[in-house]
Amino acid sequence: MAVTITVNGQDHTLDLDPRVTLLDALRDHLHLTGSKKGCDHGQCGACTVLLNGRRVNSCLCLAVMHDGDEVTTIEGLAEGGPSPLQEAFVAHDGMQCGYCTPGQICSATAMLDEVAAGWPSHVSASLDCPVELTHDELAERMSGNLCRCSCYPGINAAITEVARRGKTEAT
Ligand code: FES
Ligand code: FES
Repeated sequence: MAVTITVNGQDHTLDLDPRVTLLDALRDHLHLTGSKKGCDHGQCGACTVLLNGRRVNSCLCLAVMHDGDEVTTIEGLAEGGPSPLQEAFVAHDGMQCGYCTPGQICSATAMLDEVAAGWPSHVSASLDCPVELTHDELAERMSGNLCRCSCYPGINAAITEVARRGKTEAT
């Protein structure tokens, strides 16, 4: 089946078997290997990309269902230089093997937009409090992204720094 997907600002028309996932389309057909395949079952978050601005597990998406959609991968976030989160992950040593890192950064990018838009999580909703990126709030919102090297202190520090910076800039 023919499908046209805009990836990192560029249109790509691909002829794909309907069973090909978005992750495999990105990695095997477009050679964008920044998005990683960890579990291939929606459990680890290593494959996270932005689909029309929202974070998704690309291993759970069939590429042919996204004709006309816009995808941003970790490579796209780096266009024009490293994004603030990419820089912060380096500054806070938020990685060891690095396999989860692209997914963590894509997920955190969308998560900060969700916080800015006031989307509640289970934590903030149950506490009936305004959205603040507390430790528990951050853990809940990033719970779809696992790090088997357990670099969570650095990951959390990087995301928290960018969140604080964003808040300061917004005020
Ligand atoms: Fe997609 Fe693990 S590879 S969630
Ligand atoms: Fe190795 Fe996260 S840095 S899995």
